[in-house]
Amino acid sequence: MQPKEVIFVDYSLLWLDWKPKRALPAYTKRIAGMPATRQGKAAQRELMAGLKAMGAETMLCGKVADGPSIKLTESLGSGEKITLKRSGDGMELIGSGIALLYGVFHLLRHLALGEDYPEWDSSPAYAIRMLDHWDNADGSIERGYSGRSFFFRDGKPFFSERTRDYVRLLASCGLNACCINNVNVHANALKLLTGSYQRELKRIAVCLGEYGVSLWLSVSFSSPIELGGLETADPLDPRVRQWWKDTCGKLFASIPNLAGFLVKADSEGRPGPHSYGRTQAEGANMLAEAVSPFGGKILWRCFVYNCTQDWRDTKTDRASAQCDHFAPLDGQFRGNVYLQIKNGPVDFQIREPVSPLLGHLEHTASMVEFQIAQEYTGQQKHVCYLLPMFREVLDFHMEHKPEHDTVKENISAVCAVSNTGDDYNWTGHDLAAANLFGFGLLAWDPSADPEEIAREWSILTFGDDPVVTRTVTDILMNSRRVYEKYTVPLGIGWMCVPGNHYGPSPDGYEYDRWGTYHRATHKEIGVERGPDGTGYTEQYSPRLAAMYASAENCPEELLLFFHRLPYDYRMKDGRTLLQRIYDDHFEGYEEAQAMSDAWNELRDKLDPEVYARVQDRFREQLRCAKEWRDVINTWLYRLSLIPDEKGRKIYM
Ligand code: GCU
Repeated sequence: MQPKEVIFVDYSLLWLDWKPKRALPAYTKRIAGMPATRQGKAAQRELMAGLKAMGAETMLCGKVADGPSIKLTESLGSGEKITLKRSGDGMELIGSGIALLYGVFHLLRHLALGEDYPEWDSSPAYAIRMLDHWDNADGSIERGYSGRSFFFRDGKPFFSERTRDYVRLLASCGLNACCINNVNVHANALKLLTGSYQRELKRIAVCLGEYGVSLWLSVSFSSPIELGGLETADPLDPRVRQWWKDTCGKLFASIPNLAGFLVKADSEGRPGPHSYGRTQAEGANMLAEAVSPFGGKILWRCFVYNCTQDWRDTKTDRASAQCDHFAPLDGQFRGNVYLQIKNGPVDFQIREPVSPLLGHLEHTASMVEFQIAQEYTGQQKHVCYLLPMFREVLDFHMEHKPEHDTVKENISAVCAVSNTGDDYNWTGHDLAAANLFGFGLLAWDPSADPEEIAREWSILTFGDDPVVTRTVTDILMNSRRVYEKYTVPLGIGWMCVPGNHYGPSPDGYEYDRWGTYHRATHKEIGVERGPDGTGYTEQYSPRLAAMYASAENCPEELLLFFHRLPYDYRMKDGRTLLQRIYDDHFEGYEEAQAMSDAWNELRDKLDPEVYARVQDRFREQLRCAKEWRDVINTWLYRLSLIPDEKGRKIYM
C-alpha cells in the first residue's frame, strides 16, 4: 500500500483557516445534493472541509438527507447568481457550480461569524473581478512587497499547491479573473505566447478554472517583431494581423480557460500603436479581432502619458493625459475591448481625485484599476487599509448624466494590482490581507461597507474576541488618513524617493525626468489645474469643474492637487496652509504611534508569531512616519522660513 500523501502547508491560510466553533446549527451535520460539475464538486468539498474544521461531524447524504441539512442544488446555466435560503431547519443553496462555490464560502464565513441562517440572493455587480499580478518570469515581482512570485520560477510558469490555495482565496471572496504576469512584459515573459510553456500554463489554467477564475496574460504589443520575426507591429499591416490570429489560434486551443490579454501600450516606454501613427483604438481592435473567435477579451490600459516632460513645460499636465488620449476615441473600440483606467488621473497616490475618464465613456466598456500592492501607500510595511478609498471612487458621481452616473454604475469590470507573493502570510504585512479580502467583496458588491468588511476579516483571521475585533477594525479604518497625514499633504502626491517610491524625498521627482512637479518656491506650492492653469479641471462635468477650479470650494483634502497656493493661504478652519501641513505631520506620527500602542495591547490575545510580525511592521512604520514628518516639515520650513506656530521643533 502506498503511504498516504502528507500535505504540509507552510504558509498561512488567511481567512480560510476556519476555527472550531462552540455551537453550530444542526443542519451542518448533513450535506445533501449531488453537484455534477467540477466547480460544484469543489463547492461540496470546500463545504465538507470547512465544516469539519469548524468542528462539525458532517456527512455526505446523497440526493436527500434524513433530517436538517445543507442542500446543494446545482442548476446549470444560471451564471454566477446564487441563492441561499432557509429550507425548514436547514439551508438550501441554489445555483450553477461556481455559484454554489460562492454560496458555500458565504455560508462558511457567516457560520464562522456566528450567524445561523445567512440567507443571500445575489449576483456579482461585474462579470470581471480581477487581480493583476505584476510578476516577472524570473520570479521577481514589480512593486511586490511580499516575497517572490508563486506563478513563476526560473523563467517559467510554475505550479504548486500554493496555486490551488491562492485560487481558493480568490473564489472565497468572489474574485474570478487573474492576470498572472507583469504588464511590463520583459524578455522571458514574451515566450508565454509561443507555446513554449503550454504545459505549465495549462496546469495553472485548469487549477484556476476549477474555482471559476479565468486566466489572463499580459502581452507585448510588439510581439510580432520580438517573436514573429516581422520588422513591424503596425496594427494595420496584414502580416501583423495574421501573426496575432495564428498565435491566438494556437494559444487558445492549448490553454483552456484563457480569457484574453492585458496590454500596456505606448506607456512608460512600452511599444504601442502610436509608433506607427495609429490610434489606441486601432491597436486594441486589432488584438480584439484576433482573440474574438475564442470569446477572448482585450483589457487595454489607459496609463498613457508623457513620462519625459521637461520641467520648463508648464502646460503639459500628466493628469490630463488619459482623457486627452482616450475620451475622443469613445465608441471606436470593439465590443470585446475594456479600457482599464487607474482610479485617479495620475498614479495610485494616497489621495487623488477620481479619474475624469471614468465619466467619459458612453460607448466603450471600462474597468477601474485599483492597486492593493501598496506601492505609494506604505509598501506593506505600513498598515494602510484601502477599502474606504475604493468606496469613495466607486460612489463618486461623475455628473454627466441625470441618474446612474456614479463610477460603479458606469464601469463594466474591476481589477486591482495584487499584493501577494510567496511570503508565509501572502501579503507581507498581516493586516494587508484585509485589502485582498476586501477588494474581492467590494468587486462583488460595490456597496459593501468597508468597516463591516474590516470587522468580518478580523474575526475570520484573528478569532472573535471583541477587543481584538474592535482594535483591529479601528486600526484599519484609521490607517489611510493617518498615512496620508504623515506623508504627502493635501493631494499633492509623490514626494517619495524616485524609483522605489518608499520614504520621503520632497524634491526627488521635482528633479527627475518623470516630471511630476509640485513647483514649490519660498512663497507657494502646487500646480494650478484650473482654466488659468493647465486646464485639467475642464475634463470634469461643469459643476465639478467649477468646484475644483475654485480654491474655496475645492475639497480641502485635494487642495494642492488642484491649486498653487501661498503658504499663508487660509484654510476653512482659519489655519494657514503651511500650519495645516505641519500639524498633519505631527498628528499623523502621533496617530501612527497610537495605532501601534493599540496593537501592543493585544499581545496576550493573539498568536505570538502574528503579534510579533505585525509589531515589527509597526516599528518600521513609526520609524518611517517620523522620517516623513521631519523631512517634509523641515523642507517646508527651510523653503518658507515660517516657523511652526506651536513652537515645535520642525527641522532635523
Ligand atoms: C507605476 C509603477 C510601475 C508600473 C506602472 C504601471 O508607474 O511605478 O512599476 O509599471 O505604474 O501601472 O504600468
